[in-house]
Amino acid sequence: MRTATANLHNPINNNQSNTFFKALIAHAQASGFIYPSSEIYDGLQAVYDYGPYGVALKRNVQNFWWQSMTQLNQNIVGIDTAIMMHPTTWQASGHIDGFTDPMVDNRDSQKRYRVDLLLEAHAAQLVEQKKGTQAKALIAEMESCLQTANLSGLDQLLQSFAIVCPLSKTANWTPVRQFNLMFSTQVGAQNDATTIYLRPETAQGIFVNFLNVQKTVRMKIPFGIAQIGKAFRNEIIARQFTFRMREFEQMEMQFFIQPGTEKEWFDYWKENRQAWYNTLGISNEKINIHPHKQLAHYAAAAVDIEYAFPFGFKEVEGIHSRTDFDLSNHEQYAKKKLQYFDPEWKKSYTPYVIETSAGLDRLVLMLLSNAFIQEKEGKEGHKARTYLKLPFPLAPVKAAIFPLVKKDGLEAKALELFDQLKYDFPLMYEATSSIGKRYARQDLIGTPYCITVDHQTLEDATVTIRERDDMVQNRMAIADIVNFLHSTTSIKSLLLQLRK
Ligand code: GAP
Repeated sequence: MRTATANLHNPINNNQSNTFFKALIAHAQASGFIYPSSEIYDGLQAVYDYGPYGVALKRNVQNFWWQSMTQLNQNIVGIDTAIMMHPTTWQASGHIDGFTDPMVDNRDSQKRYRVDLLLEAHAAQLVEQKKGTQAKALIAEMESCLQTANLSGLDQLLQSFAIVCPLSKTANWTPVRQFNLMFSTQVGAQNDATTIYLRPETAQGIFVNFLNVQKTVRMKIPFGIAQIGKAFRNEIIARQFTFRMREFEQMEMQFFIQPGTEKEWFDYWKENRQAWYNTLGISNEKINIHPHKQLAHYAAAAVDIEYAFPFGFKEVEGIHSRTDFDLSNHEQYAKKKLQYFDPEWKKSYTPYVIETSAGLDRLVLMLLSNAFIQEKEGKEGHKARTYLKLPFPLAPVKAAIFPLVKKDGLEAKALELFDQLKYDFPLMYEATSSIGKRYARQDLIGTPYCITVDHQTLEDATVTIRERDDMVQNRMAIADIVNFLHSTTSIKSLLLQLRK
């Protein structure tokens, strides 16, 4: 059974945050970040496409994660494994038996719900009604039922708390059932086809390659293997935009360690990952480290890193102490040894694993939520404006180049500057409409700098450079721009912040 992450510290939805979230979704679509998938056919639930700015933002987050893992740590290497894997992988990993959600259908509305989410929502309502003790009792009982896969206990909780379907408002529930989240498909000729699964996590591609990597790259424990890739889950509850998707991307790192050192490494990665979020401008008040009481089938200890989304604190990354669960099971199912000879201990053993598992799409949503600013009245008499206060190195476009006017040779000069800078940075060039409107368009996508070529440029080879957040314009020599943009907008500038 997949675990619930009941959290009574959630700021409960209120009108203001609903309005904010709706505005953010509209902005993400209207500004070219995220579109519903196959929208011309009315979309496919819980599946989304990234537009030109969305993909650039996503790639920047990916690059930062990848470099912070594989470039800053000599003992972490990256791989890229296939989405389709031998079906026995999922028996060994426990996903065929254990990767389920408890679901219930309402007979009147014909809608299916995840029971833990229904119960959690009810507990949140109880907290709002100042019935915190009842809410705690509900969550404690739910957690115990989930831990022991007690489905009839969940049935009873629905009844005893008189929980009704949000649509039909009735309690006409079917019995609670387990629902496996993996998508299956067939490979091979139709009459001789084998059922395989789309991977529900990228981690297993790492585990089955543990020995390949360890031997061919001569890694010594402790060491990590990182991977970024798509994962698929047949989520029944499609909610909160890209927060819960059926096709999504994970950034996972499995860190192989000596048994007995798991507590030390679990704490190390918890701290390390929190610092990574701080580097993205996410303050500690907006992060909650939420320990799991009931654990996924593979975990001996786990925490979620949660971000304060407009709809409450929700998980963006999990850190799991997976013991030797995966490697031992693969040894058993594949009948192959997946052991490491430790020169220090002078013996072979199956390593333990600490996993860090972040959802890339959730990080993009977190960054957009954190960056979306609707300023009523701009500072120092500036007009109201909407802008994305993204960390500069993650911004899809690093600088926009404008000629003040299209005549007097300014356009040619601006295009010359564009050509000079385009080998180093993703840029935009815009020559139409007023400078104010051009600034406003760049603000909407979070471009850190707008560079304007004006008449003075032709005389002294300087330009004005306007900064997105404080809107201050300075003059800068064209010769200094490359270094300036590198120092303020490169992924390196973020990586440097991770130095202890
Ligand atoms: N290998 C461990 C694992 O997959 P998980 O907590 O199930 O752990 C890790 O998933 C991360 O993947 C989550 O913290 C979340 O960011 C992301 N994730 C999981 N399900 C998701 C979904 N349906 N849509 C978007 N992201 C998801």
